[in-house]
Amino acid sequence: MSEVIWGLATSHVPSIGAAMDRGMTAEPVWAPLFEGYRPAREWLAERTPDVAILVYNDHANGVDLDIVPTFAIGTAERYQVADEGFGRRPVPDVVGDPDFSFHLLHQLMDDGFDLTVFSELDVDHGFTVPLSVWTPEPRDAWPCPVVPIMVNVIRYPQPTAARCYALGQALGRAIAGYGGARTVGILGTGGMSHQLAGQRAGFINPSFDHMFLEAIEKDPEKLAALSREDYIRQAGSEGIELIMWLVMRGAMNAEVRKVHSAYHVPASNTAAGLALFENTTTRPAR
Ligand code: DHB
Ligand code: FE
Repeated sequence: MSEVIWGLATSHVPSIGAAMDRGMTAEPVWAPLFEGYRPAREWLAERTPDVAILVYNDHANGVDLDIVPTFAIGTAERYQVADEGFGRRPVPDVVGDPDFSFHLLHQLMDDGFDLTVFSELDVDHGFTVPLSVWTPEPRDAWPCPVVPIMVNVIRYPQPTAARCYALGQALGRAIAGYGGARTVGILGTGGMSHQLAGQRAGFINPSFDHMFLEAIEKDPEKLAALSREDYIRQAGSEGIELIMWLVMRGAMNAEVRKVHSAYHVPASNTAAGLALFENTTTRPAR
């Protein structure tokens, strides 16, 4: 038996990683964002799990845009940090956990989720920035092995929020049935509201984000009931990344305790949010 001990949701804006890599986090423009992360980082530093699952999207850096799986899992021993055009970030490669990956793959397949399998995968800012939000100074290695779960949020039609929540619930069942790890941390990444291109470039919607931050804790079904078009309309064409927070939330129990949350506008073109939860009851969200 394994159990999810915490769930961390965070935006993955590339410049958050760049600010850290370049030692700019204390500069006035960045300090409020990183101050907001501090209580979560301190709490997490005391609770390193045996393994983590990171639900994220690739941005055509690890996987060509011609082939975008709806849901995928990495099964590699190691994942290299992708070069996104500015050189690789100076952070460690990611150590995987193939045994846990294959367990999750089998269980999810049997539960009706036919995941694409990546036995090799470079991970981009969608993956490494959340790791940096969790662990600002990894030195030679991230705190534990990490299994990537990838979601298509970049090509229409993206999976529905309801399907992402259901994937999370199936993931929760699969985690519970795994004997090889005791404790699991799960990260849901991306969001919050932002739109990077088109007529509404720069669009940010704080009232939607605050509703989402409240509901992801107390009423995830309400968020699961929104259509992909609702997300795009209300959170922006890239704000639909928020559906990945629902995978994390679905893998947790019906009731969770919010450890900490933070919201900062803007980080680059994005409303940057963070929410950290721990499981309070043993009753799963399913
Ligand atoms: C930005 C946000 C993202 O989610 C992303 O993937 C790339 C860039 C931004 O706000 O700059
Ligand atoms: Fe993104």
